[in-house]
Amino acid sequence: MKEVKVTSTFKVYDSISDLTVLEQSVMQKAIDMLENVYAPYSEFYVGAAALTDQGNIYGGCNQENASYPLCICGERVALYNAGANEPKTPIQLLAIVSHNPKKFIDRPVSPCGACRQVISEFAMRHNKDYPILLKGDGEMIYKLESSSELLPFGFDSKYL
Ligand code: THU
Repeated sequence: MKEVKVTSTFKVYDSISDLTVLEQSVMQKAIDMLENVYAPYSEFYVGAAALTDQGNIYGGCNQENASYPLCICGERVALYNAGANEPKTPIQLLAIVSHNPKKFIDRPVSPCGACRQVISEFAMRHNKDYPILLKGDGEMIYKLESSSELLPFGFDSKYL
């Protein structure tokens, strides 16, 4: 028997002003997307933005439904928006922001498992991983340098 340890690393920035200008613009788009959230059931807001290698930024936000399982997360909407518009272009950066109007959550969001799987697929389908920025209601920002930091030990197409 041998034990295998899987680790994950991320950077913590004190504020958006510590990011590069390009990172700030993608993060700002994710923040702007909070305005378009449709979340009457959970009242939990998630905005996201995906920058492609062509330099375009595609936004997304969570979209809920009275039939709860049909709700879709903000980061998936952003990535699928990018994929629908630029199917052959790799993602360069993904920013995800959350806002909870019912309680102040200082820390950045932690994307759900389903979204981690989709984030990984976008790295795999273009054979190029990309960094992810996370922000909550506070100033602090987490930066993960690749999707594998978010989903270590994940499932992918090499098993198929
Ligand atoms: N949500 C996201 O948009 N992203 C996540 O990673 C976690 C959850 C949304 C889905 C639903 O509209 C609401 O937050 C509460 O789960």
